Amino acid sequence: MDEKDMGTDLARVLVTEEEINAKLRELAEQIDRDYEGRDVLLVGVLKGAVMVMADLARAMHSPVKMDWMAVSSYGSGTKSSGVVRILKDLDTDIVDRHILVVEDIIDSGLTLSWMLANLASRGPASLEVCAFFRKPEAAKVDIPVKYLGFDIPNEFVVGYGLDYAERYRNLPFVGTLAEHVYAGAKPH
Ligand code: XMP
Ligand code: MG
Repeated sequence: MDEKDMGTDLARVLVTEEEINAKLRELAEQIDRDYEGRDVLLVGVLKGAVMVMADLARAMHSPVKMDWMAVSSYGSGTKSSGVVRILKDLDTDIVDRHILVVEDIIDSGLTLSWMLANLASRGPASLEVCAFFRKPEAAKVDIPVKYLGFDIPNEFVVGYGLDYAERYRNLPFVGTLAEHVYAGAKPH
């Protein structure tokens, strides 16, 4: 899917496909270097992190392992509350392993903060975060992000794994949606 397929649904592109690809190469190189000689387990957070996980892992040279978690955050509407439930846990035991959590976006930080506490309690050898997007203005808790893609404005964004009502995850860039999409109006 690309810009042409968006009709009038797209308001603005915030991060282009080229910028995403350049950043992936940069992060992959950094991660390869930092974990040299150590076995790293990439933990992706479903579903948003699917794209960044797949592309980041392919840009890396080390033979990483991958596992996935799915969590749901209770809250009113689209705001997360920090009360999190595990929908799908890791398949693997992470005791004494080097864990790199790969997250699509940090908004308030509440979901990831809960996840990090949960993973830390399992006794990994190390625990770090790679977040591809972050909204600094929305932060409610401070998350130590070792590998950051882009800081973006505090707006709802879609694309590159991020959805609105499960749509637009397969856009190769990140952007904002036109008002009529939220209003449920027919594009014209
Ligand atoms: P918190 O606030 O806990 O939320 O950091 C993180 C999760 O909320 C989702 N999220 C978004 N999803 N566009 C989306 O499609 C956005 O702009 C957005 N902001 C937050 C996302 O699932 C993330 O993991
Ligand atoms: Mg997510």
